[in-house]
Amino acid sequence: MSGPLHTPLCEKLGIEYPVVAFTHCKDVAVAVINAGGFAVLGEALHSPDHIAQDIKWIRERVAGKPFGIDLVLPSSVPEERTVEQLLAEIPQEHRDFEQKIKRKYNVPDPKEAPNIHIWGGLDQKRALAQVEVVFDERVPVFASGLGSPAFLLKRAHQLGMQVWGLVGKPRQAKKQIAAGTDVIIAQGYDAAGHTGNIGTFSIVPQVVDAARGTGVCVIAAGGVTTGRHLAAALALGADGVWTGSAWLASRESDLNLPLKERLLEAETDDTVYSDCISGYTMRTTRSPWHEEWASPEAPEVLKPPLQMILSANYIQGSLDYQRKDLMTEAAGQGIHYVTEMKPARQILSDMVDEALDVFDRFASA
Ligand SMILES: Cc1cc2nc3c(=O)[nH]c(=O)nc-3n(C[C@H](O)[C@H](O)[C@H](O)COP(=O)(O)O)c2cc1C
Repeated sequence: MSGPLHTPLCEKLGIEYPVVAFTHCKDVAVAVINAGGFAVLGEALHSPDHIAQDIKWIRERVAGKPFGIDLVLPSSVPEERTVEQLLAEIPQEHRDFEQKIKRKYNVPDPKEAPNIHIWGGLDQKRALAQVEVVFDERVPVFASGLGSPAFLLKRAHQLGMQVWGLVGKPRQAKKQIAAGTDVIIAQGYDAAGHTGNIGTFSIVPQVVDAARGTGVCVIAAGGVTTGRHLAAALALGADGVWTGSAWLASRESDLNLPLKERLLEAETDDTVYSDCISGYTMRTTRSPWHEEWASPEAPEVLKPPLQMILSANYIQGSLDYQRKDLMTEAAGQGIHYVTEMKPARQILSDMVDEALDVFDRFASA
């Protein structure tokens, strides 16, 4: 196998295309893996048993091809806390503000309590219990979306696993490279979800420079939804791309239909960068929740994980009752290019074809 898309990342993973799908949906993951890409399943919101079942489910469908599991390892949260203890830490002023939003927009109560109590970002104990499953199962790639995975490296490598770290700052990349992380995901401000404030075009080449000569692969993330983005990422020196928004409205995605429609309609400036969902800066689609927390009378956003607990009912209620006017979802600036509900296989092949066209154009100029 050769050609401009055959990068060291393809060699490292034994994959055809240097495109990594980050997804919470198993069906998307399997479709991308079987179409020649790589997928990492986000499992931070699932219990250890659930994670083990998902790993088994994927293994039964990918004929030995590799895949990854993504968890969060936040260092800034308590070692151990019950949800009740955390709830008690939410000030009355914040509860009142949440209730005011609820009344103003007629936000329905969720059908069932949101499963926030499982989120690995709540405390260290939960996060480490999730990590144990990934080790037990020897999943080929463990990715940390939040927090440094350096303390897990020795054990992972002894088990033959790779450890990937997602960073938003060059200095985080340098630390992780020095610690021996196998792959660095350099994620820019354009990205969906928790992200820093450095743009993709600025962070990727800086991390590439930091990794030069170390054998560490660098993957570009943040705003990558087309083949032109893929070609540009390779031109910046990256070994591949890590993509999230591109798959949200795919056929296989298990998001509910009104949310998919909202995402297909969304423009770049419908995404906002705010800490009002989780207490960490995060890019999501605009919603009344964001507007209210940006207003002058809003209290200060709570530190993680309290803000996430506070926003959970609003988010779950909007989804349960398919209130498109209230919904919000993590989405990156590249959402502008997500306009059709295509099968994941086609999303990947369109991205690959467009990137190859770019390289052909350069080659024939
Ligand atoms: C709906 C959604 C949820 C996400 N949740 C996580 C997560 O739990 N852990 C994580 O590491 N990244 C998460 N991300 C961020 C992705 O890993 C990825 O870095 C990001 O989507 C890249 O930007 P893009 O959406 O512009 O491609 C999420 C992204 C989306 C779209």
